[in-house]
Amino acid sequence: MAVERTFIAIKPDGVQRGLVGQILSRFEDKGFKLVALKQLIPSRELAEQHYGVHRERPFFSDLVNFITSGPIVAMVWEGEGVIASARKLIGSTKPLEAEPGTIRGDLAVNIGRNVIHGSDGHETAKFEIGLWFDSKEINDWTPSDQIWREE
Ligand code: RTP
Ligand code: MG
Repeated sequence: MAVERTFIAIKPDGVQRGLVGQILSRFEDKGFKLVALKQLIPSRELAEQHYGVHRERPFFSDLVNFITSGPIVAMVWEGEGVIASARKLIGSTKPLEAEPGTIRGDLAVNIGRNVIHGSDGHETAKFEIGLWFDSKEINDWTPSDQIWREE
C-alpha cells in the first residue's frame, strides 16, 4: 500500500474539552507519522472552503459557526493507507453510531460536536492539506526507528 498523507483537525470541542493529547496519542500509537501541526482559529472563508461540499446542506451555517468558534488543532499525518485508516480510527459521523474504540465512539455523543475531522479520500486529502498548510509548514523526516516499523 502506498504512503500517503491526510488532513486531520481536532475541532473546537476537542480542544475545549482537553482531548488534544489523547487524540494525538491514538495516531502516534497506531504508527503514523506527524508531519505538520498547528493551532489556529479558522477564518469564516477558510471554514467555508473546507466544508464547501456541504454548502447547500441545512446544517452548513451551524457547522461553519462551530468550526470558527475557537482554536482547532490542524495536522497532517503520513503513512501507508493513512487516509482510510484515520477514518476508521475516527469512527462514524454520528458518534452514537460510532464503534467503541473509535475516537468518536469513545469521546462524543452529538453529531455537531464530533471532536475531529479527517479527509475522506485521496482528492479531498490533497485539497485539504493545500488549503490549511503552506508547503513550508510540512516536514519531510525519517523517524530514527523507521527500520523497525518496516519489518
Ligand atoms: P468531517 O468532514 O467533519 O470529518 O465529518 P464526516 O466526514 O464524518 O461527515 P460529513 O458528512 O463530511 O459532515 C461534516 C460535518 O457536518 C456535521 N453534520 N451535521 N446535522 C446533520 O445532519 C449533520 N450532518 C453532518 C458533522 O459535524 C460532520 O462532522
Ligand atoms: Mg467529511
